[in-house]
Amino acid sequence: MIRLACVAIGYVFGLFQTGYIYGELKGTDIRQHGSGNAGATNALRTLGWKAGLITLLGDCFKCVFAVLLVRALFAGRYPDEHMGVLLGMYAALGVILGHNFPFYLKFKGGKGIAATAGLYLSLDPVMTLVAVVLFGGAVGATRYVSLGSILVSIWLPVGTILFGQQGKWGLSQGHLYELYAITVFLCLMAIFRHRKNIGRLLSGTESKLGQKAK
Ligand code: G3P
Repeated sequence: MIRLACVAIGYVFGLFQTGYIYGELKGTDIRQHGSGNAGATNALRTLGWKAGLITLLGDCFKCVFAVLLVRALFAGRYPDEHMGVLLGMYAALGVILGHNFPFYLKFKGGKGIAATAGLYLSLDPVMTLVAVVLFGGAVGATRYVSLGSILVSIWLPVGTILFGQQGKWGLSQGHLYELYAITVFLCLMAIFRHRKNIGRLLSGTESKLGQKAK
């Protein structure tokens, strides 16, 4: 029941669509431009760097705040002091679902990568560092943001399983399996959300960082 409450609280945080709200305040629905996505990359493409940065920070920190809130609310109820990691993961799952599928926008939201950055930040500094290197390396080398996003999405289950098996978060085996299942699900969802980007990457028609919206 508490796990469900964490997902529900996360979902509510995820509904805060920074890019969409910022765009509406400027008189533009960013989902009608560029890639049609409500995330930071398309905010940057459509409305410029300030919109991109605000969207990135807003979508990232809504996840951090949701994780911190559920940990403060529920983690102390468990005798296992490490449960905060797992509950935070449930909250992040909710945030990304709310971000990707906001009911009030007919379930047409973003791809959840900035929120995933928030998940990394609240989960583990080493995993965050690896994600930053992967993202920065891929985008720096190719200027394809979507490629960086896909790589950090794949790193999420890979890194979680790698570090989890080493006993990094002190979770029991059963709780670790829950953690792994959520990260595998988030990875598959992110790849699915990027299916059009993948098609464009393969055909060489994906837009590069810095290209204006058509
Ligand atoms: O995080 C989203 C990014 O990977 C791709 O965004 O707008 O190019 O589909 P976009």
